Parts: sequence; structure tokens; C-alpha cells
Amino acid sequence: MFIADSARRDAAPAAADPQTTAAGVPAPGETAPGETTAGAAAQRAERLRRHAVTPYADALDRYIARNPTQLMVPGHGGSDLGLSARLSEYLGERALQLDVPMLLEGIDLEAHSALDDALELAADAWGAKRTWFLTNGASQANRTAAIAARGLGEHLLAQRSAHSSFSDGVLLAGITPSYVFPAVDTANGMAHGVSPEALDAALTLAEQEGRAAAAVYIISPSYFGSVSDVRGLADVAHAHGAPLIVDGAWGPHFGFHPELPESPARLGVDLVISSTHKLAGSLTQTAMLHLGHGPFADRLEALVERAFGMTASTSTSAIMRASLDIARSALVTGEAAIGRSVETAQRLREVLRADPRFDIVSDHFDAFPDIVDTDLLRVPIDVSATGLSGHWVRNQLITDHALYFEMSTATSIVAVIGAGKTPDAAEIHRALGAVVSSPAADAERAATAGSVEFPPMPAPGARRLSPREGFFGETEIVPAAEAIGRVSADTLAAYPPGIPNVMPGEEITAAAVEFLQAVAASPTGYVRGALDPRVASFRVIRVEE
Ligand SMILES: Cc1ncc(COP(=O)(O)O)c(C=O)c1O
Repeated sequence: MFIADSARRDAAPAAADPQTTAAGVPAPGETAPGETTAGAAAQRAERLRRHAVTPYADALDRYIARNPTQLMVPGHGGSDLGLSARLSEYLGERALQLDVPMLLEGIDLEAHSALDDALELAADAWGAKRTWFLTNGASQANRTAAIAARGLGEHLLAQRSAHSSFSDGVLLAGITPSYVFPAVDTANGMAHGVSPEALDAALTLAEQEGRAAAAVYIISPSYFGSVSDVRGLADVAHAHGAPLIVDGAWGPHFGFHPELPESPARLGVDLVISSTHKLAGSLTQTAMLHLGHGPFADRLEALVERAFGMTASTSTSAIMRASLDIARSALVTGEAAIGRSVETAQRLREVLRADPRFDIVSDHFDAFPDIVDTDLLRVPIDVSATGLSGHWVRNQLITDHALYFEMSTATSIVAVIGAGKTPDAAEIHRALGAVVSSPAADAERAATAGSVEFPPMPAPGARRLSPREGFFGETEIVPAAEAIGRVSADTLAAYPPGIPNVMPGEEITAAAVEFLQAVAASPTGYVRGALDPRVASFRVIRVEE
């Protein structure tokens, strides 16, 4: 079954309406309702002009131009003198000069600082009411969002496959979550997203059980590029009186090209976690948190601001912030370059579709009702027809060709093409072909003949303590057989598909032990959070004798 990715987008309700940015400017490739083409072109030109500047990065340049003598942190003093000689040689002296502390005049100290200008431009670029720059990744954004959400109430409804940083935020904040399960592609061991219908049912159930959710947390896009109907999900969450938080860590480039999905902040989402470094060109560990324009904006803004203060460093890296400022400008003004990346990814999909050894996982996304769109800069490749695991193929591409794919599963490898990048599709196909036809591949096939069947994933055990009580309780380590019926202190998630099977405070069931051990024993599976590779023991809450 093959659905062209663009055909899927045409059918997607999430992308059907023209969107406008916070400033009322049409998003790329769109004409606002009732607007003439000339008007749209003029607005677009104005948007490009506004976003050509990088106020924060430029303020750093002005600071350096004064050749300052620094009797303050950081201790390298922005120069190659003394102990900094090797560091300067390694990074270049300019990197040391740019590495300035926070709260400097002309950069981020005054009321309407260059940093404020950069933040406002970022909010405008992603269609947000307000944006925060973060320098500890979307992990920090997730923890910040969880702490902020706790200000709305103790109960929250979360997609069970939440990133560990959000689960950590739940523990830190003392949230008691209910869960909605994502759709799972069992053949490929991939967790996707949640449909509005599934969310509505989960929220209704939580209300009936007296745990009405004060906020909803979902993930879109997935690791494999599937995109949920975030507008529909926001409508459902709002109808239940809760804001929608979207972990869009993998979609920081959304909204910057007409063939890419829309920025979630323009689709009614209340808070968006964005891992800007992942595909959008800023430095590793940089991220953004975007506040939407919806009915919860005022309450959330104050809560996020306080939570941000709890998770941010008081020595936030200027270089990292500058990279966010520059990446924003490059994205807004770089539609043509992003288009070339979309074409490159399309070329890669086409050469692989023509080769019977490979299949494109996203060509089969229409089998999942939760998926309404696809991230075209992701190419998930099913290699199972080669008789090799995705893990083996990925490792071999690294060994033989220094070619690094983002991730692998038992059946697949996933390429991520950064916005504006144009890797050689034919070259990638050649390397893949060489690896799967190599003598090493023949030996691997002979050694691992026979398909791996994972048992069905069991339902989670009953919650006996809150996640926080489970995590911070008195614990002991017991053999697996004795763990059955006890309360877990750890999170354990079997990969595939990586959805937590046991969370702190939940009862460990016989089915969970069997499933975790079966996945751990398979050649391509593993269990994140396990105390040992075979899951022979568990950390449980101690019971008084
Ligand atoms: C869905 C999701 N959210 C959040 C994160 C954390 O992102 P970061 O590595 O930027 O901290 C990740 C990391 O891969 C992720 O996959």
C-alpha cells in the first residue's frame, strides 16, 4: 500500500485551513482568507525583512567589538591567554569571546533587551504568544511544562509513551497522571500517536473516575515522523476544560515550508515543547518552549515563567542562545533551502521504493487512524526484507561507510535530514545496498535466521502509590519471581516499542515480568530502566515485616 506523503497532507484536516502567525502574517505557502495575492506577497516580504535580523547574536558581536577586559566569569576571560591557550586553539578564540555571562548591558539586562527582541521574533516565527529559549534541551522544556501544568491541578492525562524527561517532571511536580495509549505498529515495533477520539474517551473515563485532567500531554511527531491531528486534540482537550501540551521535540522545523506540517502553536496547542537543535539548525542542547494563544495562555504564562526559573541555569550559555536566534532567522528566510531538503528526502524515498530490499515505513501510515500527516524530513526505512535487523544495518553503515542514521529498530533504520541539508540520496542507497549484500551480511543472516516474535504488550499493573511515592519510597532489590505483586520504584520500558510497561508506584504483574524478560532475551530488544540486561531483578518498595 502506498500513499504519497503529499496526498496524505491534502487529506489531513490539521492542515486544511490557512494559518496566520501571531502577527497576522500568512505562514509560508499560504494566503490568508480574503487576502489578495499581492497583499500576501507584501506581507511575506515584510515578514522576511523582519526576520532577516538576529538581535541577540548581533548584540554579542557588538560586545566583542569593544574588546572588553573581563574581570568576571567565565574564567577563560574570552581570550587565549594562560590556561585557555589549548581551549582557544581547539574551539577558536571567537568561541571564547562569544561565551559571555548573563545579565550584560546591551545584551540581556535592560527592560527591552536584545534577548527580548530575539524571543519576540521566535514567538512570531512559530506562531506563539510567547517563547522561552532553553539550553538544556527539550528535556528541560518537558520538565518545565510538567511543573507548570501542576499549577493547574494534580491530575493530568498523558500519552503513555512520554519521553523520560516528562515522566521526570511528573515526579518532580508531584503529578498523578492517567494515561492514554498511543497506536502501535506491532510489525515494526513503533509507537505512534493518539487520535482525538481516543483522547476524548480517555478524558471522559478519567472524569468518571474522579480524576478529571487539569492538562493533557501528547507527543507529535513520533520518532518515525507520524503526525497526530493536534488541532483536533486541542479541541477535545479544551472541550474537557484542559490545555493541550504537545511534545513537538521532533518537529521544530514545522511551519517553515508549505510541504511540512504546521507549527503546533498555530493549531490551537497551548504549550509546545520544541527541540530546536534536532532538525532546525541550532546547537545541540538548545530548545524552545512556545506558549499558544488559546484560552489557557494567561494562566500558563505565569506558571511557565515560574517553572522556567526552576529549571534554567543562572549561567545560561550565550553561544547557545545566539544559535537559537540565528536558527530562527535562517528558518524563516530559508524556505527555498528547506524545499531542497524536502526534495532530497523525497529522492531518497524514491530510490528506496524502487529497490525491493527496502520499504518506506511512512508509506503505510494510513493504517493508523491517529496519523494525519508526515514529517517529510524523516525517512524511516524498513530493512526486514533483507533478513537483517535495523540495528545491525545501522551499525554496519557506521563501520563501513561512516554513515550515521538517527536510530534503528528491529526492522528499520530512520534517517533524519536537517532543515536545509541535502545529503546525496544515490550515495546513501549505494551504501545501504553494499552493506546488505556484503559477506558480513551473509554471515549475520546465517547466524540470526528465524524471525523474532515479541509477545503482546500487557496492560500496566494497578497503581498502588503515586509516581512520586513510588520513586522516593524505601526500596529493595528482589529477584523477578518475588517482584510479582510488589510495587515498582522504577520505570521499565521494553524496546520495541518503548512504551513504559511499569512506572513508579505501579504493581508489577506476572504478565509484565514475562513480557519484559521475553523482549530482553530477544536479539534486538532491550529494556530501558532495567537493573540488569536480562531483567532478572526489580527495585521494589520495601514492605514492613
Ligand atoms: C519526544 C521527545 N521529547 C523530548 C526529548 C528530549 O530532547 P532533548 O534531547 O533536546 O533534551 C526527546 C529526545 O529525543 C524526545 O524524543
